[in-house]
Amino acid sequence: MGIVDKECEVVENRFISGRTWLLRVKAPEIVDNIKPASFAMIRSSFEYQYDPLLRRAFAIADVVGDELWFYYDVYGKGTKLLTERKAGERVSILAPLGNRFFPEDYEHYVIVGGGIGFAGLSLFMKHLRKMGKSFKPLYGVRRREQLSMLEWIEENGFDVIVYTEDGSFGKKGLITQDLKELALEKPNTALAVCGPHGMMKAVVEIAREINVPCFVSLESRMACGFGICIGCVVKEKESDNYVRVCYEGPVFDAFKIEL
Ligand SMILES: Cc1cc2nc3c(=O)[nH]c(=O)nc-3n(C[C@H](O)[C@H](O)[C@H](O)COP(=O)(O)OP(=O)(O)OC[C@H]3O[C@@H](n4cnc5c(N)ncnc54)[C@H](O)[C@@H]3O)c2cc1C
Ligand code: FES
Repeated sequence: MGIVDKECEVVENRFISGRTWLLRVKAPEIVDNIKPASFAMIRSSFEYQYDPLLRRAFAIADVVGDELWFYYDVYGKGTKLLTERKAGERVSILAPLGNRFFPEDYEHYVIVGGGIGFAGLSLFMKHLRKMGKSFKPLYGVRRREQLSMLEWIEENGFDVIVYTEDGSFGKKGLITQDLKELALEKPNTALAVCGPHGMMKAVVEIAREINVPCFVSLESRMACGFGICIGCVVKEKESDNYVRVCYEGPVFDAFKIEL
């Protein structure tokens, strides 16, 4: 089955900390088709309201039974309105979206998730574990309150190195500080990355320097989410081509696009 547009029942919409929230919705028609790094477009405005008109994009952070889980940061109008959704109400979801995902043929992965970008990697971690692959996840934020997925990590039993810039949790410093060593520890390693633009750029630079393959899940601003508005493009390197993050992505070989 392809993309589904559905009014899904909210199971829980809960504040976590800082400006982060968890949204759980019932979506039995969607859950079977999700790939790691699939995303959804969610309409945050209520029925018969048209502001904001456009849906907002969110990574599908987990699939639990017939539920989709989303972790989100409150930024502007759309995400603010999303926090007003209560259990039992319905929210319009278009999913699963995206056509290109993380390659699965490396022996070892270093997972690099910055801030809410960790939610774009959590399903891939579950998938790698299911496949019996070896991987090391890193999760970096400025302050502890931005670590929205700590509970999820604990419940799912993942061994994650957490970095906070102010030292309020885990290791003090940047997510990139041990990256070279970790990426070179095992043969046939690739990096899987999602997070703020500056962090991704820094990671890609390191990957290039040590010549380790690097795949990024991009979060450009999106209007449609399925390839028609051309609003989310990035430029391919060494060609004049632009590719749509929502349709040709969201995952790209970091060495082949201009970040
Ligand atoms: C494929 C994809 C997956 C995403 N997954 C998640 C997720 O799992 N959790 C989550 O919290 N967010 C995620 N985002 C980002 C999310 O879509 C934006 O934060 C959201 O659209 C902001 O809407 P708003 O109406 O609250 O803010 P707006 O009023 O539209 O904008 C407010 C501020 O947020 C910034 N902003 C808006 N969109 C983005 C964006 N795409 N990336 C970075 N900054 C942005 C703007 O520059 C502005 O400063 C994802 C985006 C994409 C494209
Ligand atoms: S968001 Fe419309 S083409 Fe990508």
